[in-house]
Amino acid sequence: MSKEPRPDVAAVREPDDATALWSPTVLTTDDGSPALWSPRYGQAFRSQRGAHAEANHVFAAGSGAAARLAAGLTTRVLEVGLGAANNLACTAAAALAAGTPLHYRAWEPEPLPAAALRLAGLGAIAPAPFVAALLAARDAWGALAPGDVRRWRFATVELELIVAPIDRLLDAAFAADAARRLRAARAADGAATTAADAPFDAIYLDPFSPEVNPDPWRPEVLAALAARLAPGGALVSYSVRGSVRRALADAGLDVRKVAGPPGGKREVLHAGRPGGPRDETAGAAG
Ligand SMILES: C[S@@+](CC[C@H](N)C(=O)[O-])C[C@H]1O[C@@H](n2cnc3c(N)ncnc32)[C@H](O)[C@@H]1O
Repeated sequence: MSKEPRPDVAAVREPDDATALWSPTVLTTDDGSPALWSPRYGQAFRSQRGAHAEANHVFAAGSGAAARLAAGLTTRVLEVGLGAANNLACTAAAALAAGTPLHYRAWEPEPLPAAALRLAGLGAIAPAPFVAALLAARDAWGALAPGDVRRWRFATVELELIVAPIDRLLDAAFAADAARRLRAARAADGAATTAADAPFDAIYLDPFSPEVNPDPWRPEVLAALAARLAPGGALVSYSVRGSVRRALADAGLDVRKVAGPPGGKREVLHAGRPGGPRDETAGAAG
């Protein structure tokens, strides 16, 4: 894939204040890929040691999702924090290369506008037609309200977005209602519903760090996520914080620190659910 030309950052509105989720001041990370900066959280949206390398090493490859897709296995991913869609683009690239179905569900309280996604250099990770279609879909969605759900398809890739913090997974009525609305949206365009409602093969835990964004890292949230992981699946994250590892181990996962990306964090998190590969006929995960 060719590298995208760098966008004209001067063409993008400056954020109003330090509470803005994102800033058009794009950082160049160590692998040459761009990362957005969050004034509110005081952190980049991706590792400054290599934005695209992190998306691949920690998430798409690290979870086993890319290998599953390459092997032709329909794969379900749950992401906590869609952000600039690096992880989505990286996983979608594996699905599109193999022609394998990918169901990608993301919980994101503040979906970035297309103007921000355009700065993330996604064309260096995923095919240009995929990136163009994703940006067009985000433009078409316009302003999103809390609790909205959106569904979008490109070839074998299906994105389901829930506009809410992952903490709302603990609210059974909210989570069931969101799942029901997504099922209705799938049925409305004739898509199969069963595979999309099975447990997840991979969970990408990718909010900002626990120090500045503690809610999605709470033990009860982590337990709810672990409960949605299929046997043989893995929850992965860049954070190896002790409290996160303990919560996931308490939830029955096999928690390990594994080597981080070259030049990046020394260790990252891999929390696997023991068991064989997912049975495609398994029941609903909510
Ligand atoms: C580090 S960025 C994610 C980067 C993204 N995964 C990517 O591939 O580009 C963190 C994201 O988590 C989101 N976030 C913050 N709190 C959250 C929560 N409670 N639940 C889900 N997402 C959250 C932020 O809005 C932000 O978009």
